[in-house]
Amino acid sequence: MAQHDGDNLTAAGSTLDTGPASEASAGTSVAVPSGAFENPGMPPHRTRATDLDPKKEKTAERRVGGLFLFSIVASIFAIVAYIIFPITPGNLSSVRINNLFLGVGISLALLSIGLGAIYWAKNLMKDGEWEESRHPTRGSEETRAAAVEVFKVGNEESGFGRRTLIRNSLIGALVVSPLPAVVMFRDLAPAADPVALLKKTVWDKDVRLMRDPSNTPIKASDVTLGSVFHVIPETLADSEDFLEEKAKAAVLLMRLKPEDLHVSPEREDWNYQGIVAYSKICTHVGCPVALAEQHTHHLLCPCHQSQFDISHEAKVIFGPAKRPLPQLPITVDSEGYLIARSDFHEPVGPSFWERS
Ligand code: FES
Repeated sequence: MAQHDGDNLTAAGSTLDTGPASEASAGTSVAVPSGAFENPGMPPHRTRATDLDPKKEKTAERRVGGLFLFSIVASIFAIVAYIIFPITPGNLSSVRINNLFLGVGISLALLSIGLGAIYWAKNLMKDGEWEESRHPTRGSEETRAAAVEVFKVGNEESGFGRRTLIRNSLIGALVVSPLPAVVMFRDLAPAADPVALLKKTVWDKDVRLMRDPSNTPIKASDVTLGSVFHVIPETLADSEDFLEEKAKAAVLLMRLKPEDLHVSPEREDWNYQGIVAYSKICTHVGCPVALAEQHTHHLLCPCHQSQFDISHEAKVIFGPAKRPLPQLPITVDSEGYLIARSDFHEPVGPSFWERS
């Protein structure tokens, strides 16, 4: 199925003619070895049942329309299932059921569109074999006009304009199929005010600082110079949304020499003899800030390399984070265990809400 630059090779279905060897020029001709097989041409055309019987043609049309209509039903099913079986925070089986019905609905919707399109092409669109000669890459005016003609013929042969049931049901299915995604993406936005959501954590006055994950209390004397503790609140286990609350309340605890700490007057009693506690949740997009450099007093977020200086109230010294890590005010109780003086004084985590 080729014609080379309008000279040597002719279209498929005709005899191969390589022309005189002396006329070939490098870069414009295809060298055809002697003894190349002859173009076998097109296989004989087989007429389909839908070409011969108008009743079968109508039945096929109804089947295609039925598949597209079924796609609409499946998309609506996905939306309804997403609403009827909502995801309950902390309940894994609700996630499974929600994903199951949502996945079934969306899969059936897309599968039906695909099957309908294939059935339509196989049974109703014109299926005559035809051949096309190779043209120069740059299209001439005639080529462009021919392309328009091809579209017109395609429209005529597929019956897209004529078969209104198929056309309208396909348009309906394509319009409805993205709706489940729209409903799902809507839920990505916070349902409540993010500032209120991130400002309140499980930390409160007199709540003990506990090691994560052993959940044992920490005495001030346990925290040696340069050591780092991963900390959770003592009352975390009682919270309903354990994982969500832990994600907000995670804290890093470190001890510096008191003379290395540069604190503002209002934070003078937020540390205990050089022991400081900061939110572990990066203020960029919320990764855990878990790498501490003992000698520089820097904390490093591994996600995008933001660095925070603990000796200067965790201010940002490098990277995309725009806000210092929130500090947890701490002291000790009568037994010498570290406790919180209060909750954080500002929202923890990413600062996207500042730009809203
Ligand atoms: S999440 Fe920490 S730097 Fe991006």
